[in-house]
Amino acid sequence: MPQTVKGVIARSKGAAVELTDIVIPDPGPGEAVVAVEACGVCHTDLHYREGGINDDFPFLLGHEAAGVVEAIGEGVTEVAPGDFVILNWRAVCGQCRSCRRGRPEICFATHNARQKMTLTDGTELSPALGIGAFVEKTLVAAGQCTKVDRADAAAVGLLGCGVMAGFGAAVNTGGVKRGDSIAVIGCGGVGNAAIAGAAIVGATTIIAVDVDDRKLEGAQRFGATHTVNSRDVDAVERIRELTGGHGADVVVEAVGRPETYEQAFYARDLAGTVVLVGVPTPDQQVTLPMIEIFGRGGSLKSSWYGDCLPSRDFPMLVNLYRQGRFDLDAFVSEKIGIGDVEAAFAKMHAGEVLRSVVVMDGGQ
Ligand SMILES: NC(=O)c1ccc[n+]([C@@H]2O[C@H](COP(=O)([O-])OP(=O)(O)OC[C@H]3O[C@@H](n4cnc5c(N)ncnc54)[C@H](O)[C@@H]3O)[C@@H](O)[C@H]2O)c1
Ligand SMILES: [Zn+2]
Ligand SMILES: [Zn+2]
Repeated sequence: MPQTVKGVIARSKGAAVELTDIVIPDPGPGEAVVAVEACGVCHTDLHYREGGINDDFPFLLGHEAAGVVEAIGEGVTEVAPGDFVILNWRAVCGQCRSCRRGRPEICFATHNARQKMTLTDGTELSPALGIGAFVEKTLVAAGQCTKVDRADAAAVGLLGCGVMAGFGAAVNTGGVKRGDSIAVIGCGGVGNAAIAGAAIVGATTIIAVDVDDRKLEGAQRFGATHTVNSRDVDAVERIRELTGGHGADVVVEAVGRPETYEQAFYARDLAGTVVLVGVPTPDQQVTLPMIEIFGRGGSLKSSWYGDCLPSRDFPMLVNLYRQGRFDLDAFVSEKIGIGDVEAAFAKMHAGEVLRSVVVMDGGQ
């Protein structure tokens, strides 16, 4: 029997989100219904609401979540009812040209649930990043459920998007390693996860750049060795000064704007790596001298989801968290109820929080 539960939708471009009734079908072949325990508010949810991703309104928002599998459809073997899982937006196919070449982390045919969740009048919803988790229960492809050891859902759910994206941008895409220098531009949830990742793998110079002193203070908690407020000083000059006059080995751009991308481009050392993990809007452009692109060597990369493979990376990061080596709790600024998503967007916009996390028992 389909179930009707409460969920948060963005009905039209720019309009405030609404808490409304959502109809969840029983899981079909290859699908699972998950009782969501917690879901973080990511900047990408706000991009969806503002029409910055696409126009497939109404969206069922939320995509950084953990919960418990309630029911599975025919043929599902990877998870079972009762499993504690983190939801992922990279359920790999195993068959596309990238998977066949042994690169499932850049699978070109990831899958989501085939059936649609709907409003009570039958209107089909577009789930954010193929998940949709500001909702008491959600329907996903079974491959979107990554089983992990039981841990605080509000903390480990963040691995489902922003924290994994940031950590992976530094460690997987950027390839940061022991003794390297790294600068991270933009110290929200994503940027701080890049900083934490760099600290865990042993980078020795970790420069946090932001325009907000509160964010820079927070970045130190995740392992930043230096902070730069780019409102007050030239970020490129300062990063060079802090790296012996050369620039950082890796610069992670975690804002998604042309001016910060340019800073990243010029703030890296010769043969260094730029990683764009911030999501730009379709109208944004950068202009760079080709001779500089050529002459500086190195690589200009973008990072989708931190080039993660959920089955490999989520359990490993949950282990580091449980061992006290990766402070996921520090990303959780507040726990809120499912009716508080719009207020959380305002706090995110004002720079007051790293992550507001919806917990299904009503927050605190
Ligand atoms: N690539 C991916 O897979 C992926 C996944 C999740 C999020 N994202 C994207 O990453 C970006 C960051 O997400 P978030 O959740 O951390 O957002 P956030 O709003 O929490 O953080 C953004 C930070 O950038 C800072 N900032 C803004 N303008 C700046 C500037 N000019 N210079 C320096 N800092 C500046 C803000 O003060 C804030 O601290 C967003 O664009 C989001 O859509 C990408
Ligand atoms: Zn594939
Ligand atoms: Zn996200």
